[in-house]
Amino acid sequence: MRRIPIEAVREGQVIAKNIYDENGYMLLARGTSLTEYIIDKLKRVGYLSLFIDDGFGDVPREEAVDERKVIALQKATKSIFKQPCRSISAAQMKQLSNLVDMIIEELVNATVETADDILQLNQVDDETFTHSVNVMMLTILMGKKIYGLRSAKMKKLAMGALLHDYGKLFIPPHVLKKKGALSTEEYEEVKNHTLKGFDYLKTVEMLEPTVRIVALEHHERYDGTGYPQQKAGDSIHEFSAITSLCDVYEALTADRVYRKGFPVNEAYEYLSGAGGTHFDYRWVKLFLSLIYPYPTGTQVLLSNDLIGKVVNIIDPYRLRPVVELENQYVLDLTKHHQITVQQVIY
Ligand SMILES: [Fe+2]
Repeated sequence: MRRIPIEAVREGQVIAKNIYDENGYMLLARGTSLTEYIIDKLKRVGYLSLFIDDGFGDVPREEAVDERKVIALQKATKSIFKQPCRSISAAQMKQLSNLVDMIIEELVNATVETADDILQLNQVDDETFTHSVNVMMLTILMGKKIYGLRSAKMKKLAMGALLHDYGKLFIPPHVLKKKGALSTEEYEEVKNHTLKGFDYLKTVEMLEPTVRIVALEHHERYDGTGYPQQKAGDSIHEFSAITSLCDVYEALTADRVYRKGFPVNEAYEYLSGAGGTHFDYRWVKLFLSLIYPYPTGTQVLLSNDLIGKVVNIIDPYRLRPVVELENQYVLDLTKHHQITVQQVIY
């Protein structure tokens, strides 16, 4: 299974994940073979990429998580992010908390462990709530690796990640949604969502203190170049550090109204480069283990100008896959150091 841009999708390819509308109704079932008509329709509804199943891959065809549960959580999150009164009632918090428990249970028991397995495609919107649910699911995958399967920390981490951007509700929409460059004042205003979220979440009963800490610190950076307090290193709570990494990855790879998400290989390289500067290398290393920059089945152009298809990945050398060339010669890039992947051609 791999995610490919919609313009690279071809008739006859099979979709690897159910596609739901925002109300949880299934638009297309996993296993559907795509026709020009369907592809065109998906483009018009606003999908910029699709998960397709080309028979390759380590990922089983079953759903990694019950997507109906994810959609239920998206809906609940949307209801608290969309209400004009900007407050979370006790009943809403209880519902949210139950849904988060369900998703943790689901992900803890799932055997698949790559970021692509759990990320949901959304019709392109730039809404904070879909982003928040995706970030939360990524942090659970990280939590599974760090804390093991059953840990009280998991729930705290997940709730922090889900509500990390709650403070955006207090930022004027015309600033938040502005396309193009922000003025210095506007940027300062956006940065304030960290403090506003922290202050508001303080008033919500039943929330662990670490939840508001994540809201406050998720833009802090390991090397002290973040905001709002320029904290550095271990003075940033580990839940915040983990959430910030997942936040950046999701923001890079997700499709947005104004741009298609970056390909996974580019996000992988970006995060590799940010280890030790923006992010603690410990967490980067762990996070990268959830990502396959060139999943099997990917068509690639190599630096020797030959085209081939990735047929195997030898861990931990994920940037150096085994490629079958068009003349069926198999090239193991872990053994041919002079050749690199130049470009993904899907
Ligand atoms: Fe944020």
